[in-house]
Amino acid sequence: MRHAFPEDAQALYTTFCSVVGELRWLPTLHPNGTVSDWVSWIHRTRRTKEALLVAEIDYGYAGHLSLQPEEWEASQHVTRLGIIVTKALRGIGIGKALMQSAEEVAREKGFEKIVLSTFADNKIARHLYEEIGYKLVGIREKHFKMPHGYVDEALYEKAL
Ligand SMILES: CC(C)(COP(=O)(O)OP(=O)(O)OC[C@H]1O[C@@H](n2cnc3c(N)ncnc32)[C@H](O)[C@@H]1OP(=O)(O)O)[C@@H](O)C(=O)NCCC(=O)NCCS
Repeated sequence: MRHAFPEDAQALYTTFCSVVGELRWLPTLHPNGTVSDWVSWIHRTRRTKEALLVAEIDYGYAGHLSLQPEEWEASQHVTRLGIIVTKALRGIGIGKALMQSAEEVAREKGFEKIVLSTFADNKIARHLYEEIGYKLVGIREKHFKMPHGYVDEALYEKAL
């Protein structure tokens, strides 16, 4: 696990687009942004509270995790977390390792709480979050309208 470099932007963007294309895990229907937006994002992590962590196996990209402060001025101690692992490398512990590293980085960046949300039917993600101590704090019913139908949103948080 390491912080992202600008050279990672292409891999991060390509994987994001391919996970969006699966239409099963993320509430984004069409990937927005460009590789250069990702380069800027990576640069921004050097001088802000944002973070982008990369998981590597055998020197190859395997997945990434983002931390972004909540937008409210009074919630700058709270970070939102997003995570994706390359399809071919899921189920072998990469997600768990990224989530564990994220807690350390979030503390270093001065955050006191991590929040995240997932599709309520994403059993793998929910199992992972609950296993490492995230608390389910609510369900928003029919919060997303995906091509295959409505999906509830499960909201999680963990105090650091
Ligand atoms: C959700 C995701 C990040 C998890 O990462 P991962 O590397 O696949 O997960 P891990 O291998 O670290 O496994 C974590 C736990 O989930 C379990 N798990 C993994 N794959 C599973 C599967 N197919 N079925 C059931 N449990 C599974 C593991 O056994 C492990 O639990 P354990 O420690 O009790 O054994 C990854 O699957 C992913 O990128 N999915 C698509 C995008 C997504 O859903 N992102 C999150 C949106 S909020």
